[in-house]
Amino acid sequence: MADISLEDAAMGKARQLRVPGTATTIRDVSSSRVHPPGDRDDAVPQGTLPPTQGSPPASSGPAPSPGVGVGPWLGPWPQDPRYDPALLANGDQRNVVEGYRYWSMDAIVADLDARRCPLHVAVENWEHDFNIGSIVRTANAFAVAEVHIVGRRRWNRRGAMVTDRYQHIRYHPTARDLAAWAAGAGIVLVGIDNVPGAKPLEGRTLPERCAMLFGSEGAGLSPDAIAVCESVLAIAQYGSTRSLNAGAAAAIAMWAWALQHRH
Ligand SMILES: C[S@@+](CC[C@H](N)C(=O)[O-])C[C@H]1O[C@@H](n2cnc3c(N)ncnc32)[C@H](O)[C@@H]1O
Repeated sequence: MADISLEDAAMGKARQLRVPGTATTIRDVSSSRVHPPGDRDDAVPQGTLPPTQGSPPASSGPAPSPGVGVGPWLGPWPQDPRYDPALLANGDQRNVVEGYRYWSMDAIVADLDARRCPLHVAVENWEHDFNIGSIVRTANAFAVAEVHIVGRRRWNRRGAMVTDRYQHIRYHPTARDLAAWAAGAGIVLVGIDNVPGAKPLEGRTLPERCAMLFGSEGAGLSPDAIAVCESVLAIAQYGSTRSLNAGAAAAIAMWAWALQHRH
């Protein structure tokens, strides 16, 4: 069987995964949607069964899990040092793509570090917005290089659903500090907001080495932040609301960057 990519696994295309460094294959016991326990989307849609229900358990490999993820590893354990013994013993219900099942967090971060994209994401944190966690989760999904928090160091982690543990996060007291860091790293700072004077994001070529800066939920990008950005780009809207929430805007902007630089 050919190896499959993590992306394929994440899309739920694969039914079996090869365990890195072994001849072992893992049944893909997830649906294409992988969520941690407690996530609202955990529920199996009515009228369907989890994919593994009714299948006989494998003699060696992951035991089926009644919910998301995989149960304890059955049979002899694989020897790859990336595996976490506690996860092999107890099962792995984390919100990770199937190719990372049973991997320790350090091993996952190291693997991500080897293939992160050059995009950086920054957000102003003046109001303890719930959306910051959501931005971090999306940043993790796009494997961005780093997330930058501007302003208060304490930020609302709830929406991150623990994805912040896999993400490098850098703190800057002010937008000017962020700009100084970006200049030193040769990274273009692009503001994302629909403020007067903003240019359309649509059709715009985004720099490959760029940091996208998002504003607070209430005030939007601060004047200080706008002043240090090379440009400010707006996502077109067609309805009555003044703005998207910052988490939704960040997801659209990251996707726009990915369309240009990851495909
Ligand atoms: C809820 S908005 C608040 C500010 C917004 N300018 C307003 O007037 O309502 C919070 C953040 O989401 C992002 N955002 C929301 N809608 C956007 C859009 N249409 N285009 C670009 N960014 C947007 C920006 O980063 C903004 O700072």
